[in-house]
Amino acid sequence: MTTSSELIEISERRSAHNYHPLPVVIHEAHGAWVTDVEGKRYLDFLSGYSSLNFGHGNPKIIEAAQEQLKNLTLTSRAFYHDQFAQFCAGLGDLTGKDMILPMNTGAEAVETAIKVARKWGYQVKGVAPEQATIIVMEDNFHGRTTTIISFSTDPDAHDEFGPYTPGFKVVKYGSAEAIREAIDANTVAVLVEPIQGEAGVLVPPDGYLTQVRELCTENNVLMIADEIQSGLGRTGKTFAVEHEGVVPDIYVLGKALGGGVVPVSAIAADQDVLGVIQPGQHGSTFGGNPLACAVGNAVIEILNTGEFQARATQLGEIMHAKLRELIGHGVVTVRGRGLWAGVDIDPSLATGREVSKRLMERGVLAKDTHGSTIRLAPPIVISEEDMLWALGQLAEVIATIR
Ligand SMILES: Cc1ncc(COP(=O)(O)O)c(C=O)c1O
Repeated sequence: MTTSSELIEISERRSAHNYHPLPVVIHEAHGAWVTDVEGKRYLDFLSGYSSLNFGHGNPKIIEAAQEQLKNLTLTSRAFYHDQFAQFCAGLGDLTGKDMILPMNTGAEAVETAIKVARKWGYQVKGVAPEQATIIVMEDNFHGRTTTIISFSTDPDAHDEFGPYTPGFKVVKYGSAEAIREAIDANTVAVLVEPIQGEAGVLVPPDGYLTQVRELCTENNVLMIADEIQSGLGRTGKTFAVEHEGVVPDIYVLGKALGGGVVPVSAIAADQDVLGVIQPGQHGSTFGGNPLACAVGNAVIEILNTGEFQARATQLGEIMHAKLRELIGHGVVTVRGRGLWAGVDIDPSLATGREVSKRLMERGVLAKDTHGSTIRLAPPIVISEEDMLWALGQLAEVIATIR
């Protein structure tokens, strides 16, 4: 059997260096635990950036996928298939929206929302041709396409990939005033992450999302909530906007919608918005395929029980209480909501990567972001006992570096 170090050496030599993974080679996983090729077990505290909210190999999701694999995997959207109607109706009901447009990756769903908002701007709002603008936030993360990175404020994501797509205005995240100042007659949408995940799990000030909603309504502008990472149970609600009782015009969903099995993304909106799209104007060969819809249907069924949302709330309270104990003892700040946290390590002690590496050596897989921050987002199926064990490992790592 090939060893981890051999596999890492080949991977580094034969793949583009667009990621900087921790040196662990995973072979299998169940629930919240993963096992590497040497048989060492680790507790997953990242969940594929919230794609594995329902756990690795969730039995309901795997069963749905296996059943569907036997029957039908792809038709393209040239034909209907028997999983599609349930997926669109089910996701429409979950979001409270009339219509769904399914895609595959998160970035594609964001692109879809951008296109729909622009089309809506020209057809419904009456913006002059080519003049539509979308307000976006500093430190946003919405994916890696050339249009999306055009409005990224992260130099790594943005620089030397131009020429860039015009039509975006970047404003400070968390400031409704900044949006108010940026809105003009050509504004068609405000695109916002209810919690900025990649930026380090940044939670905006209380009332911010409500103000964004009000500003959008007053100015006939679409509110687009990118819930790709914050949605589907992670924060203790189906959607993070629910913490403020806010309903956006467009939900952008991905990651956990595919149950950690296949890429499934979608946008959800009402007929007056999504109805602007006509045949031939947008699509994807794999978007809304039978396997994706069968998996998505299992995910929607799971979410409809509310069990995972409640569990994320309950475990999240315990996790945040434990993390808060570390503040002033090597940890500067802890942010987050539900079973999701960004932990800023005192930068004079260690980088987030160093902490993540030490956690890995102790059997916990987490990931750093932006220097001294680590993100914690275990699968929501994790047991309280396992979670407390991993948080104990974090406390010990921090104690040893102090
Ligand atoms: C909020 C948000 N939007 C969009 C994306 C892009 O999703 P994908 O990597 O599936 O394209 C991500 C991925 O991390 C995300 O966190």
